Amino acid sequence: MKLFALWLVVILQVRAVWSQNQSSYLEHFWSYGRSEPVYPSPDIEGWGNWIVAYTKAKALVHQMTNEEKNNLTYGYNSMTIGCSGISGGVPRLGFPGICLQDAENGVRGTDMVNAYASGLHIGASWNKELAYTRASYLGAEFKRKGINVALGPVAGPIGRVVRGGRNWEGFSNDPYLSGALTGVSVRGLQTSVIACIKHLIANEQETYRMPPMFLPGSFNQSVSSNVDDKTMHELYLWPFQDAVKAGVGSAMCSYQRINNSYACQNSKVMNGLLKGELGFQGFVVSDWGAQHTGIASAAAGLDLAMPSSSYWSNGTLSLSVKNGSLAQTRLDDMATRIIAAWYRYAPLEDPGHGLPTSLLLPHRLVDARDPRSKQTLLQSAVEGHVLVKNINNALPLRNPKFLSLFGYDGVAIRQFTGTWMGLDNSLSYPDGTPVDYIKIAHIITSSADPNSHLPGVALNGTLISGGGSGSNTPAYIDAPFDAFQRQAYEDGTFLSWDFSRVNPQVNPASEACIVFINEQSSEGSDRPDLADPYSDELVVSVANQCNNTMVVIHNAGIRLVDNWIDNDNITAVVFAHVPGQDSGRALVDVMYGKQSPSGRLPYTVARKASDYGSLLNPEVSSGNQNIYYPQSNFTEGAYIDYKAFELQGITPRYEFGYGLTYTSFAYSQLAIQRDPEVNIEYLPPGSTIEEGGLPSLWDVIARISCNVTNTGAVAAAEMAQLYVGVPGGPKKVLRGFVKQSLEPGQWKEFKFELTRRDLSTWDVTKQNWILQRGGYPIYIGKSVLSIQLVDTLRL
Ligand SMILES: *[C@@H]1O[C@H](CO)[C@@H](O)[C@H](O)[C@H]1NC(C)=O
Ligand SMILES: *[C@@H]1O[C@H](CO)[C@@H](O)[C@H](O)[C@H]1NC(C)=O
Ligand SMILES: *[C@@H]1O[C@H](CO)[C@@H](O)[C@H](O)[C@H]1NC(C)=O
Ligand SMILES: *[C@@H]1O[C@H](CO)[C@@H](O)[C@H](O)[C@H]1NC(C)=O
Ligand SMILES: *[C@@H]1O[C@H](CO)[C@@H](O)[C@H](O)[C@H]1NC(C)=O
Ligand SMILES: *[C@@H]1O[C@H](CO)[C@@H](O)[C@H](O)[C@H]1NC(C)=O
Ligand SMILES: *[C@@H]1O[C@H](CO)[C@@H](O)[C@H](O)[C@H]1NC(C)=O
Ligand SMILES: *[C@@H]1O[C@H](CO)[C@@H](O)[C@H](O)[C@H]1NC(C)=O
Ligand SMILES: *[C@@H]1O[C@H](CO)[C@@H](O)[C@H](O)[C@H]1NC(C)=O
Ligand SMILES: *[C@@H]1O[C@H](CO)[C@@H](O)[C@H](O)[C@H]1NC(C)=O
Ligand SMILES: *[C@@H]1O[C@H](CO)[C@@H](O)[C@H](O)[C@H]1NC(C)=O
Repeated sequence: MKLFALWLVVILQVRAVWSQNQSSYLEHFWSYGRSEPVYPSPDIEGWGNWIVAYTKAKALVHQMTNEEKNNLTYGYNSMTIGCSGISGGVPRLGFPGICLQDAENGVRGTDMVNAYASGLHIGASWNKELAYTRASYLGAEFKRKGINVALGPVAGPIGRVVRGGRNWEGFSNDPYLSGALTGVSVRGLQTSVIACIKHLIANEQETYRMPPMFLPGSFNQSVSSNVDDKTMHELYLWPFQDAVKAGVGSAMCSYQRINNSYACQNSKVMNGLLKGELGFQGFVVSDWGAQHTGIASAAAGLDLAMPSSSYWSNGTLSLSVKNGSLAQTRLDDMATRIIAAWYRYAPLEDPGHGLPTSLLLPHRLVDARDPRSKQTLLQSAVEGHVLVKNINNALPLRNPKFLSLFGYDGVAIRQFTGTWMGLDNSLSYPDGTPVDYIKIAHIITSSADPNSHLPGVALNGTLISGGGSGSNTPAYIDAPFDAFQRQAYEDGTFLSWDFSRVNPQVNPASEACIVFINEQSSEGSDRPDLADPYSDELVVSVANQCNNTMVVIHNAGIRLVDNWIDNDNITAVVFAHVPGQDSGRALVDVMYGKQSPSGRLPYTVARKASDYGSLLNPEVSSGNQNIYYPQSNFTEGAYIDYKAFELQGITPRYEFGYGLTYTSFAYSQLAIQRDPEVNIEYLPPGSTIEEGGLPSLWDVIARISCNVTNTGAVAAAEMAQLYVGVPGGPKKVLRGFVKQSLEPGQWKEFKFELTRRDLSTWDVTKQNWILQRGGYPIYIGKSVLSIQLVDTLRL
């Protein structure tokens, strides 16, 4: 609650601070002319399924005065409605405004809602059907609360910086996996509300994410992500394209700068890439407080400023149209885009009706939960668990007589009465220093020493999500201990536990010792480390006393394990990620073999942090001018995560796509079939953009299949992965994945489709995706390094 209040204060400060003197000659030197100007802003076209909503929106906007159009382009501070943001309305014409609410993994900060598994957890499930169903239930909860826009899914940060604080909010640092899950999530959410694909774009570190809000008078600006055009297309923009293809109704521009131009006034990004090349038909909303100019941001393609705007309020835009500084068509387009998305996906009459401003004041209960979502909540939690070590079939557990449980992460947070921010369990640093909320407010607004952090570990309760606006509010927390106790009741197991000490004593009669640790991560702060020493000490302390030690890590991001992984007493390790409220139940299902684990790592776990090279850490400025204008040069191109490991010949501890199960699978009969009818010219046919870009990018060029047999003794789902060696690119890039359940002895055909985009590279001269002639190695495997079948596709 306290923290939430602070967050609000922080947001409200934005306006005050931005009126301070921020100009200097350096600003002009750094900020101008480094990002290509693209004007004018493309108007909404009403393509495809937008036509009905577009026509209605045009008609409504036609009846509005310029003051009324202006009124709906920015947020109001409401005294009665608790939305993260609410836009102005046009009461005269019956448009009530739109309510926008956090976030991508569940409705946050209110009551009577569910906490779903977070993005990274869904990434680890590699399950498109499940991701779709989850998003559908999620969207319906937003709608029942009267929310028009659910602020998610997250496709950026993609996870370039390994210590990046928000990497857990999105699905994976692979653009194909992220894009596939992003596309289905947008479709699922938009069965009820408007989805908001965020954060556009290259928002890859929290350090220096915004100008230091609490240091008025400072010249410091946000970090600039300097990204070349090829990398932009092949990595960062890729999943955004899937979102637009899926019909996404809104997009959020990010805090930081791209090529030194702030994301919310970057015309190349909004007018050029999003609305031009990708044919986006929705509206662009600023991240909270990310608007830094008036007419410039409107002309560059920003449509809605949140949570308020000192630049656009009081009729500024309509006056700007009057005196000729802003085109009438731009103001019309801003209003039309907002109203069209509203008509198409969420024309709610009473926005925000289920969101009181304070939960501690009397209010009507609006139950957003649907009992039918239970199965999906649990199954999403189950499938994001990744088993990475399992010696001598230590798992699954089979009616153990005596289990010992350890670790601060085994039990739920002790108090939860207010508004959830996901940091309620992170109240002190491992050295005992309590968290100081003033300091946190400085950290999350880039006003503290860039090397200061939020706690990297949540010591005060099991981790079910990371922290910040991407967290979600649980209806309850089923902690590991709760679920193990229920199972102990069924099996007659004797339990012994110590969730307090870092050096607990172990009863030598324990059949197994399970240690629960976590790795916390939050918006506003990059992580202090990839393996916190406190948790490592705890694991080693138990392992020294127990020869059947199992480690469960609730990790909101990559977690290294090399400080103890080779200890023979450690027989099983589970990356349990961020499972939401059904955490314990899901864990017990996996550890007791009620379901075989089917999760796979959506990232690479290195042996040591330095193996990530320059991508380990956020950019911290050094040098003279860079002190004010931090520069992050994305010189590695598309070579992040497994592509970088393969390029440099580094063997990871656990590679991308890795994960064990309780059975074994055999692969055979790779078949490649190129469609002889389909166009394989160098340039994609056609030149007419539609929503999602050139339609021919989705032409299916080849169909691949193989046969997978369950050769073990238990039922399990296999997740077959297809990698392609696109000529001139990384050795392998993920271009397909299929998950299917198989009974023991059963075989199934696994089928993949490769589209033109999947096989193309971005040509900066042609400004297009090009398809090269030659041999494309096709790899099918259990992970990027465990390749089972290889052949070549010839074009
Ligand atoms: C604003 O910044 C300029 C450039 O550094 C400086 O000359 C001027 O004095 C500042 N004005 C105020 C009011 O601080
Ligand atoms: C950023 O600059 C690079 C190099 O000049 C250029 O390739 C790229 O298109 C620019 N991107 C944006 C968004 O300005
Ligand atoms: C602008 O929006 C606010 C908030 O919805 C509303 O109270 C006000 O009447 C609107 N102004 C106009 C001119 O419609
Ligand atoms: C809008 O105008 C009102 C009344 O003139 C003024 O009090 C307020 O400060 C203005 N708001 C902004 C954001 O400029
Ligand atoms: C036009 O009006 C806007 C809003 O009042 C103002 O910021 C801008 O300076 C004006 N431009 C000209 C050329 O008068
Ligand atoms: C802002 O810039 C100053 C140099 O003027 C630098 O010393 C300081 O570390 C920067 N502040 C932050 C929060 O990065
Ligand atoms: C949080 O956990 C730490 C470590 O166990 C403990 O020192 C601290 O007192 C706890 N804080 C609260 C408020 O319970
Ligand atoms: C493994 O556990 C046994 C107790 O079962 C202990 O004696 C031994 O030292 C432990 N080994 C390691 C490497 O911790
Ligand atoms: C592990 O420890 C248990 C109990 O101390 C003992 O019975 C068992 O033989 C040990 N197993 C191994 C492989 O050392
Ligand atoms: C980033 O690239 C620019 C232009 O090439 C260069 O001047 C600057 O030193 C680089 N910054 C860092 C931190 O590498
Ligand atoms: C798939 O593989 C299994 C096991 O080798 C085999 O029995 C089955 O006939 C194969 N299916 C096809 C369609 O060839």
